Amino acid sequence: MFFKVLATDKQTKARRGELHLAGQIIPTPVFMPVGTQGTVKTLTPLQIKETGAEIILCNAYHLCLRPGAEIIKQLGGLHRFMGWKGAIITDSGGFQVFSLSKLTKISNNGVEFQSPIDGSKLLLTPEKVIKIQNDIGANIIMAFDECVPYPCEKDMASVAVERTLNWAARCLDSHNNEDQALFGIVQGSVFEELRIECAKHLEKMNFQGYAIGGLSVGEGSLLMNEVMDYTVEYLPPGKPRYLMGVGFPEDILHAVERGVDMFDCVIPTRNGRNGCAFTHLGKVKILNSRYKEDTGPLDEMCDCYTCKNFSRAYLRHLFVAKETLGLTLLSLHNIFYFQRLMQQIRDSIERGEFRSFKEQFFSAYKNN
Ligand code: GUN
Ligand code: ZN
Repeated sequence: MFFKVLATDKQTKARRGELHLAGQIIPTPVFMPVGTQGTVKTLTPLQIKETGAEIILCNAYHLCLRPGAEIIKQLGGLHRFMGWKGAIITDSGGFQVFSLSKLTKISNNGVEFQSPIDGSKLLLTPEKVIKIQNDIGANIIMAFDECVPYPCEKDMASVAVERTLNWAARCLDSHNNEDQALFGIVQGSVFEELRIECAKHLEKMNFQGYAIGGLSVGEGSLLMNEVMDYTVEYLPPGKPRYLMGVGFPEDILHAVERGVDMFDCVIPTRNGRNGCAFTHLGKVKILNSRYKEDTGPLDEMCDCYTCKNFSRAYLRHLFVAKETLGLTLLSLHNIFYFQRLMQQIRDSIERGEFRSFKEQFFSAYKNN
């Protein structure tokens, strides 16, 4: 069994589960740090491990452009290439090809686009995306999907759902590696009818897990929560549910409450590199002059290497002086913070106290 639900919350749809991947057991709900280019920016694999992270998200679109999936395969697969012994999930590029490439031409066959690296013309099809992800060798791989921008006319969202379903079936047909779990991705923008149609069809195709895509693209947290409410209902209870590209601690709590098991987001690393640290009381902008002589740690409740060894004043100094250690120390703390949050979420579900944990979190956490 690839996924097990160990406990379900009585007051909400929150679940405590386990992913079984290549001999590793990964507790859920889980947060996966982002290592788009085969590196979690500014951190060594040893440092990633120290945060408690056991699975990271890499990106097939970026890695096929550079260094190329064939090269990664030749060099023993991505785990070995990047020196990461934990689990890896790769995103298919269904999101990035639209947001990062120029001259994209989409047809039912696939997406033609120009490489942002050398300008060469490339074609991604569902079959190629599966081959690329097989070569890269992640433990979980994603179907090729079409993610529409927000806002989006219903007609356009509907065409994207049809294409996403057609591509999902082609991904399943061309996938023949039992060591890799393949997830389908639900699209449909903010249209209930389209989301339900997409979820129902994907459910019949029998993927090993299901992602909710096309969210956190500007629709706001109220709409995002609404979409999750009606989408999750049509996903099978025994399989993992993954909300792609989300999010802030608040978003994660709202999604866990609605039955989501997996998350990824650049926020802890990107915000860390911008000098923004997450703490149990809210965000800290380390460049603020109020921290100039602050001898305290980033977060008094945190046991990470950064918090155990460095003051806010020193971290601020690193950012003022543009020293790269600052980027590493804040990224490390932020990922640690997200891992600890997930641990607290899992514990609270086990105790049957998720709702009160969530309330407690929000009463301390000030959004500023
Ligand atoms: N990452 C964030 N959102 C999406 C999405 O809708 N599709 C894919 N493939 N990746 C994503
Ligand atoms: Zn810390």
